[in-house]
Amino acid sequence: MPQIKVGLIGFGTVGAGMVEALSTNRRLIEDRVGAGIVLKRIADLDIDSDRGVEVDPEVLTTDAMEVVNDPEIDIIVELMGGCDQAMDYILAAMERGKQVVTANKALIAQHGRLLFETAERYGVEVAFEASVAGGIPIIKALREGLAANRIKAILAILNGTSNYILTRMTREGVSFDEALSMAKSCGYAEADPTLDIDGSDAAHKLTILVSLAFGYPCRYEDVYREGIDTVSPEDIRFAGELGYCLKLLAVAREVDGHIEARVHPAFVPLDHILANVNEAYNAVYVEGDFVGPTLFYGLGAGRRPAGSAVVSDLMDIARNQIKGITRRVSPLSFARPPARELSLKPMDQLVTGYYLRFSALDKPGVLSKISGILGAHNISIASVIQKGRGGHGSVPVVMLTYEAMERDVRKSLELVDKLDVVTERTVLFRVERETDS
Ligand code: HSE
Repeated sequence: MPQIKVGLIGFGTVGAGMVEALSTNRRLIEDRVGAGIVLKRIADLDIDSDRGVEVDPEVLTTDAMEVVNDPEIDIIVELMGGCDQAMDYILAAMERGKQVVTANKALIAQHGRLLFETAERYGVEVAFEASVAGGIPIIKALREGLAANRIKAILAILNGTSNYILTRMTREGVSFDEALSMAKSCGYAEADPTLDIDGSDAAHKLTILVSLAFGYPCRYEDVYREGIDTVSPEDIRFAGELGYCLKLLAVAREVDGHIEARVHPAFVPLDHILANVNEAYNAVYVEGDFVGPTLFYGLGAGRRPAGSAVVSDLMDIARNQIKGITRRVSPLSFARPPARELSLKPMDQLVTGYYLRFSALDKPGVLSKISGILGAHNISIASVIQKGRGGHGSVPVVMLTYEAMERDVRKSLELVDKLDVVTERTVLFRVERETDS
């Protein structure tokens, strides 16, 4: 039986998951591929810690270039993270004719073009299933399983840490800070969870999905992003009263050649399938013109789910290699740029529903002042909650709007927030009402 030799750079959580999957399911993988996948070398700065998997100490090295330069190695798996050094190792591996597997979403989102051009130049594959939604095979699904479809929309929960935090805030009514501490003690949030909670991690993943789904060369900078640190238990309670929950959503939609690409907390109707995606789970809802709505659900992080995705990439490449094929499918699914001109929709032209929470004095005429400004900007109110009486202090006045343009909403809020009866900056969340599920 042929043997495909693999070198791993970065022996952390995902690396250990990959090693565990390769060893636990060795026979199954051989049966499925018709070749053995053999881990020949592992590079990491720390080669002493116990990762809970058995490896021959002889395969370990602290020098990643030893792995890259090993002539017997067919596939390099980059799981070290970060951009600059990881890129150097990947480019060096490609120059040596090696196939590459990576889970590095930031690298693909920010330097994908260079990576894919280099892979093409050297006739090698670069596979990155683990970079988006961990164990969920969404890359394969968009690239192959749904390839016959014009993708209309993607609505996704792509950051498990944020979803865990919002779940705790919703179910236990705790503050953002308390929920973040809980996420840290469960091992979900990193010591520095900034990228998880400020929307960057989900934006990296959405950048990749947009490029795959629409053939639009989405840049990370193109994706609008807001995090969840502004979400308060009060807004979550109001969401529930109005029949919604709050989720950090990654949204991509194509309307008449214009692509929306945005990550922000959003009100999701309680009867939408994504409203039931809780704890640290991820889900990607994809709507295609022929297939209709589809949902991909699972764990977006963790040793075994991410290990599953990395090994499936290895098996894909190994299968191609034993048949003498490479680059059967273009990394971003399109063999040439799509015929239709696509452009990114500026955020101020977004049309959606809005949740607005005003802090206003409980005095006669306040509602009419606020609604007068909204009306003058073509914003129509769908429902209002006002819990009185605030005495001399302010009370929350909550409104849900019908579809309005972001530019008009922003202009109105500038004016509303200047009213002498409004005591704090108005809180805004977007409402995703379009549900086909
Ligand atoms: N930190 C990410 C999350 C997992 O919380 O979903 C890795 O992409």
